[in-house]
Amino acid sequence: MRKQNKANILIVDDKRENLIALEAVLSQEDYYLVSAQSGEEALKHVLQTDFAVILLDVQMPGLNGFQTAKLIKQRKSSAHIPIIFITALSKAHENIMEGYSSGAVDYIFKPFNRDILKSKVEVFVDLYRKKNEVVMQQQQLKQDQKNLQDKYNNLEAIITEKTKELVKTNQELKVSQQLFEKVFQFSPNLMSLRCKSDKRYLSVNQSWCEHTGYDVVELNGLDDELISTEEIDVDLDGNINNEKITYTTKNGGTRVGLLSTETIYVKGEVCVLSTITDITEQTKLEKEFSRLDHLNLVGEMAAGIAHEVRNPMTTVIGFLQIAKNEVGKPISDNYLKLMLDELKRANGIITEFLTLAKDKVTNKKEQDLNKIIHVIYPLIQAEALMTNNTIVLDLKEIPPLYIDEQEIRQLLLNISLNGLDAMKDTGTLTIRTFEKDDDVILQISDEGCGIKEEVLEKMGTPFFTTKENGTGLGMAICYSIASRHSAEISIDTSSQGTTFEITFQKENAKVAQLNT
Ligand SMILES: Nc1ncnc2c1ncn2[C@@H]1O[C@H](COP(=O)(O)OP(=O)(O)OP(=O)(O)O)[C@@H](O)[C@H]1O
Ligand SMILES: [Mg+2]
Repeated sequence: MRKQNKANILIVDDKRENLIALEAVLSQEDYYLVSAQSGEEALKHVLQTDFAVILLDVQMPGLNGFQTAKLIKQRKSSAHIPIIFITALSKAHENIMEGYSSGAVDYIFKPFNRDILKSKVEVFVDLYRKKNEVVMQQQQLKQDQKNLQDKYNNLEAIITEKTKELVKTNQELKVSQQLFEKVFQFSPNLMSLRCKSDKRYLSVNQSWCEHTGYDVVELNGLDDELISTEEIDVDLDGNINNEKITYTTKNGGTRVGLLSTETIYVKGEVCVLSTITDITEQTKLEKEFSRLDHLNLVGEMAAGIAHEVRNPMTTVIGFLQIAKNEVGKPISDNYLKLMLDELKRANGIITEFLTLAKDKVTNKKEQDLNKIIHVIYPLIQAEALMTNNTIVLDLKEIPPLYIDEQEIRQLLLNISLNGLDAMKDTGTLTIRTFEKDDDVILQISDEGCGIKEEVLEKMGTPFFTTKENGTGLGMAICYSIASRHSAEISIDTSSQGTTFEITFQKENAKVAQLNT
């Protein structure tokens, strides 16, 4: 056993007083002294402990010093321990030789000089310590080498793993590059890739060449930009989404498209990938459809007016015919009244039709919508009574709106009368007003039959009616009134009834007021 950082020293002497004397000389902080009084006892200690040096008395009963030394030297694990014989024998040559041959490294003769003994022991302890240090350094070196090897192995594994990942990423990149290339080249849209810094075209696809007539080289030689738009710098702004543009073709034509752009990086350069969906044909078709639609509408309206005006005219012509045949007879008051009524009706229809005009002069001022409802209420109530229906008013507090009283009355009346018409059996017509966020809502709900899809589609078309005596102008007038008030009409309908919702914007009303 060896104390931490202390050198173990075995001192062997059969005489107790000699041991004490040696202990006194060698007693020192960094030594750990082990004493033995016989060769046998010394051997036992050597078996258990590694010593820096052994001080061994030669003359001992039992195993003497030489014999003990021999045995110590025979054992592999203790052969290296230096042994200093302490003897009172003569310094005769043969004695000394026997000592050396049995493994001694030095001699000290009794009576010994304390300082010589001390310094000799010190030399061996020093040697022992140095040897131990070398061993420890060797061990440390070995450990360091092992650690280094481990790190190297680890590094090798990491490099192998990373290389694998890199190869995989490269392959994926290749695939996605090929995919991009295919999408780019064969897209039916016009696609181009431009360098952002100098606006140079790097690549354009087939569709681009076919539509514009230019290839990349020609494009880069152009003085003017191909794409024009009023609002944005199309080639420098990334991330444009379906902006309507026009572009000039090589043969001088102008085409229309929707442009989307995306900023991407190609080999470290900032580029803009543009996609144009050509909508030239679509736009032409839309214009054509809209023209046809207008023609259709004009036709329908003409038929409507003709129908509405022809009826009273037929009546008037009939009476005038009778009057002509009865020459000399004055036209009866009754006939005159009927003729006037018919002409008034025709005039009324034309007047109503004219209220559809977009630029009709309105008389808007800031006022309370609820008040207007209260004013018109008796009229609607009277109509409801005749058809066995009930009117319910649910009017919440709302801010004043900038509106034309006459027009709003007409809107209320038209929608309410439609609602009452739709309720064949008894039902309730509810008129509500309330605030919702920045809007004021007017709601008119009936419990009628609902509006069929095909009727809903044509709702608001002048002279469209499903009623025998309807003019089909009611909803058209409502839409035109709503438009003059920047209000929106939405319809929610089912077989349980229909709700018309008119949304007035509070802010709009204020802005409109400021502008007047
Ligand atoms: N609340 C409703 N419920 C069911 N159908 C409706 C309702 N409101 C309108 N409609 C349908 O829409 C059509 C067009 O309505 P609009 O008010 O424009 O004309 P009209 O009521 O037929 O005639 P007018 O109002 O000129 O007398 C109506 O004929 C009717 O079929
Ligand atoms: Mg109507």
